[in-house]
Formats: sequence, structure tokens, C-alpha cells
Amino acid sequence: MAVRTAVIPAAGMGTRFLPATRATPKELLPIYDTPALQFVIDEAIEAGCDRVIVVTSRTKPSIESYVAVAGTDKVAVSVVYQDAPLGLGHAVSCVRQVVGDEPFIVMLPDEIMGDASLTKQLVAQFETTGKSSIGLKRVATAEVSSYGNVKVADYSGGAESAVEVLQVVEKPKPADVVSDIVIIGRYVFAPIVFDKLDQVKPSASSEIQLTDALAMLAGERSLIGIVSEVARYDTGTPMGLLRAVIEIALQRKDIGAPLSAWLREKFSK
Ligand code: UTP
Repeated sequence: MAVRTAVIPAAGMGTRFLPATRATPKELLPIYDTPALQFVIDEAIEAGCDRVIVVTSRTKPSIESYVAVAGTDKVAVSVVYQDAPLGLGHAVSCVRQVVGDEPFIVMLPDEIMGDASLTKQLVAQFETTGKSSIGLKRVATAEVSSYGNVKVADYSGGAESAVEVLQVVEKPKPADVVSDIVIIGRYVFAPIVFDKLDQVKPSASSEIQLTDALAMLAGERSLIGIVSEVARYDTGTPMGLLRAVIEIALQRKDIGAPLSAWLREKFSK
């Protein structure tokens, strides 16, 4: 079945960006002149979606204002509310009625990709196998504990390889790390994920974790990963956002050259 819907969870509290997020949601913080949310909407269109659903909170009315003007002739953009920030898995379960019995993409707006290649590969993988498919990447051992960590079958080490996911461990302690492969913020789900999310028990912090549903799919051998080398900017922290702004601005035709000249001058002193 073709994948035409993208879900963008944007109902979190953005505590790592306080005090900025008292006034501006994290997802609308600009990458130079474009909100992070717009990058993800553009990626969804590029990956073939004509429907984008943004999960937001009533405490973030500017997301709804942005969504109201984000639709184009290529894409319809709408919001669904998450009444309380009960976790990423809970945010995804909030779209069940609107998505219906269809596959869908989930794209985290605090991870900006250099291009839509990974999302396109995940869609193609789903359309071929019918199995939920998630973005993966290899990281240095010291970084694994910050992510969802996966054990996979028969990984040859090649870039852009599709692998079967056998086990998922959320933010493992160093002793519990199962590989150097972690989950990144692009997923294509079969609708069965909603049933899995219904079975997830709240964590100690009362959140419904998406990784618990992924672990259930992996346990049933119903989860594929693609180990990607796509450029990725983690804009979920102030330092990550700053790096994304500089790197993406340096690539732009209009301001890349003057920005580069200014940086060279600054560091030559
Ligand atoms: P994060 O955990 O990075 O976002 O969730 P956060 O909770 O807003 O950030 P901090 O930790 O307080 O700084 C990843 C994505 O999932 C959304 C967030 O808005 C973000 O885009 N999210 C998270 C929800 O939509 N609902 C939630 O309950 C939690």
C-alpha cells in the first residue's frame, strides 16, 4: 500500500530550550530563516506525501497558526492535539482516528536531514515488505547511550543496508549496549503499531515510549531498519541547533559565501 501520510510529533515541552520555548515552540525555532518544522514538511512532500499531520499541544498555539498557512497545492497540513505530553509513543497514538487503517511516516522535527533519501528508502522498504521500517545510524560507542539502541541480523557493514531488527533497548547503560547502531528520527509504520502502542505500559516518568512499541515489533520479527549515512542535524539541543544553522546556512547560495568569508575573517585573528 502506498504511503502518503506523514505525522510530525510537536507537542513536547522543549525544556532544553528554555527560556526561548516560553514564547516559541522548539519546532518553530529558525534554521537561519526557516522553521525546523518547515524542513520536515518539505521532506515529507519530497518523499511522496500529500498529507501531513502535526501533533501539537494547546499550550503551543503558534504551531497551529503556522500549520494554517503551511498547506500548498501539493500537501494538506493539519493538526491533532495531544492533551498532555505523555511521551512520543502517546503522541503517535493520538493520530489513530485521523490516519485510519493506513501506513504512515513519523518524522521528528528536531532532527533535520540533509535530504529526503532515508525517508524515501524507508517508504520503498515498507512498500516492498509490508513491514514497519526505521532509520538507523552507526555512532561512536560513547554516544550509544543517548539513543534507542538496536541489535540487528546479518549486518554486512554497508551503507544504506536494510537489516532485520532483533532487539531494541532505549538509552542503554554502557554495560547493556547491544551494538553501535542507533535509531534516528524517521519511521514508516504499518497501522498495527497503534495496537502495540495500546499495549505499552507507562514508563517511570509516566510516558508511553515509542521504543517499547518498536521492541514489540522487533520481538515478532516485524521490524526492518535501514542503516543510513544521510547528513543529519540534531536540533534538539541549543548547541545542535547552532551547528545546524551554521552548516545549513553555509550550503545556501544566497548567504553561504558571505557567511564563510565572515567566519574565516573571525578565526584568522
Ligand atoms: P523530545 O523529547 O526531543 O522533545 O521529543 P521535548 O520533550 O519537547 O524536548 P525536551 O526534552 O523537553 O527538551 C521528540 C519530538 O517528539 C515530540 C516533541 O515535540 C519533539 O518534536 N513529543 C515529545 C511530543 O509530541 N509529545 C510528547 O509527549 C513528547
